[in-house]
Amino acid sequence: MAAGPWALLLFVAAGVVLQARAQPDSKGFISIDCGLSGKTGYEDDSTKISYVPDAGFIDAGTNHNISAEYVTPSMGKHWYDVRSFTGTRNCYTLRSLVPGVKYIVRAMFKYGNYDGLDRPPVFDLHIGVNYWHTVNISGPGAAILQEAMVVVPDDFVQVCLVNTGTGTPFISSLDLRPLHRTHYPQVTAVQGLALTTRLNFGPTDDTVIVRYPDDPHDRIWYPMVDTTRWTEISTTQKAQSRDDDFFEAPSTVLQTAIRPRNASHNLEFTWSSEPTPVDPSPGYIVILHFAELQILPGNDVRQLNIVLNDKPWYTTGFTTEYLFDAVAYNTQPFQYNSRYNLNVEASGNATLPPFINAIEVFSVFPTTNIGSDSQDVSAITAIRAKYHVRNNWMGDPCVPNAMAWDRLACSYAIGRRPRITSVNLSSSGLNGDISSSFANLKAVQYLDLSNNNLMGSIPDALSQLPLLTVLYVRNLL
Ligand SMILES: *[C@@H]1O[C@H](CO)[C@@H](O)[C@H](O)[C@H]1NC(C)=O
Ligand SMILES: *[C@@H]1O[C@H](CO)[C@@H](O)[C@H](O)[C@H]1NC(C)=O
Ligand SMILES: *[C@@H]1O[C@H](CO)[C@@H](O)[C@H](O)[C@H]1NC(C)=O
Ligand SMILES: *[C@@H]1O[C@H](CO)[C@@H](O)[C@H](O)[C@H]1NC(C)=O
Ligand SMILES: *[C@@H]1O[C@H](CO)[C@@H](O)[C@H](O)[C@H]1NC(C)=O
Repeated sequence: MAAGPWALLLFVAAGVVLQARAQPDSKGFISIDCGLSGKTGYEDDSTKISYVPDAGFIDAGTNHNISAEYVTPSMGKHWYDVRSFTGTRNCYTLRSLVPGVKYIVRAMFKYGNYDGLDRPPVFDLHIGVNYWHTVNISGPGAAILQEAMVVVPDDFVQVCLVNTGTGTPFISSLDLRPLHRTHYPQVTAVQGLALTTRLNFGPTDDTVIVRYPDDPHDRIWYPMVDTTRWTEISTTQKAQSRDDDFFEAPSTVLQTAIRPRNASHNLEFTWSSEPTPVDPSPGYIVILHFAELQILPGNDVRQLNIVLNDKPWYTTGFTTEYLFDAVAYNTQPFQYNSRYNLNVEASGNATLPPFINAIEVFSVFPTTNIGSDSQDVSAITAIRAKYHVRNNWMGDPCVPNAMAWDRLACSYAIGRRPRITSVNLSSSGLNGDISSSFANLKAVQYLDLSNNNLMGSIPDALSQLPLLTVLYVRNLL
C-alpha cells in the first residue's frame, strides 16, 4: 500500500504569476517547482499555494521538460519539468528556518522520460548529513512522493540527491512545512520519520487528495476506498482533534471512515519492512485515527482491539468518542524483520463492527550524524560563492566523510561538530581579492591560496587565526 494512487492527482495548473522567493512565506511554507525556467512562479490552482522556481535554492543541475506523452491536462504544473544532476551529491538549501523546529520535508518525482533514455533511475535522498530514503522510480509515468519529518538543527536545511551508480538523480518539486513543537513526538533530534503511507478512508469523492487548506500543515492524505471489502461511513458534522492531540488530523479526513462489509470481519492492513542502507530492519511508527461518526443506540457498544503481528496494543479494548479523534499510536518503533500485519477488530464486548477514519505509517531513520561547525559552513559557503568553486563543493563540507569537499581537510571529534582544518585552493583560478571569510575559519591550520590570480593585500584578520600555521599566497598580483 506504499505507492498510493498518485495517478488520481488532479491539481489544475493556475495562471497567476508570482515573484520567486527563496524564503518561507507567511505560513512558513517553502514550495519549489524544480526545473522551472525563468524567475517567476505561480499559484497552484487547487491549494492556492505559491510555487517558485528553484534557481534561488541550488546552483547546479540542468532543467528539462518531461516528455509530452506523460503530461496530462489535469496534473499539477510542478510535474511538467525536472532538474537533473551530474556529480555525486547535489543539494537544495532551504533557508530562514527556526533551529530546533520540526518540519515536514517533501520531495516529488516524475521521470516522464525527460532525457529520452527511457531509464528511470534509483538514487538516495539525504536530509542534511543523514540518509533519508532511496528513491526507486518504478516507471516513466510514476508520480513518487517522499516525505520526512525532522527536527532541523540549524537555521537552514539541505536536501541532497545522491548518485548511487544507478542512474542520474532528478527532482520535480520540493516542499517544506513547519509543524508545532508538540506534533509527532516520535520525531526527535536523533530520529526522523519517513512516510510509508497516509490514507484517508472512505472519502465521498475518492479522486480528491486532502491537503492545504483543509490541513493547515499541508500533509497529503490519499483517498482510499475499496468497496469490495469496506463500507463507507460519513458525516456532515465537524469532527475534531482534541487540543492536546499530537497529530491534528483535519476534520475533512475524520468525517469519513470505513467499516468491514461483513460485520464479523476485521479491518486488516499489511506492509513489508523495507531495508535501507543505514538499517537492514528499520522500525515503524503507526498512527490510527478513530472518530465515531454515528450516535450509538443506548445498548450498543463499540470497542476495538488493535493487534499488530498477533500482539494486542491494549489489554482492555480501545474506546472511541462521537465526533472526536481518538488516536492509537506507538511511541517506540515496532521492529519486525519482514511483514507487518495490523488488525482492527471488534472486542469481545462490542456489539458493533470495527471502523477506522485514517492511518499514517512511517519508518524511522536516525538523524544522529551532525553537520560541520555552522560558522565554518557559513565561511566556506561564502568562499565557494565568491570564487565560484564547484568540484564536489555541495552539501556539508566535512560530512559524510566520504563526500567531504575536495581540497579541504576536517577534524572529527566524537560529539563535536567537525571543523575545517585545511583549505588548499592553490592553482584554482581564483580571481579578485582575498575573501575576509577565510578569517572566519577559526580552526584552520593550513591555508594555500598560491598560484591564483588574487590581488590586493592579505587581510589583517588572517593573522588573528589562532591555529593557522601555514599560509601560502605566492604570486599575489
Ligand atoms: C519547457 O517548456 C516551457 C514551456 O513550453 C519552455 O518555456 C521552457 O523553455 C522549456 N524548458 C526547457 C528546459 O526546455
Ligand atoms: C527498484 O525497484 C525494483 C522493483 O521493485 C527492484 O527490482 C530493483 O531491485 C530496485 N532497484 C534498486 C537499486 O533498489
Ligand atoms: C461473514 O463472515 C463470516 C466469517 O468469515 C462468514 O461465516 C459469513 O458467511 C459472512 N457473511 C456474509 C453475509 O458474507
Ligand atoms: C467487558 O465487559 C465485562 C462486563 O461488563 C467487563 O468486566 C470487562 O472488563 C469488559 N471488557 C473490556 C475489554 O472492556
Ligand atoms: C595543495 O594542492 C596542490 C595542488 O593540488 C598540491 O601540489 C600541494 O602539494 C598541496 N599542498 C599540500 C600541503 O597538500
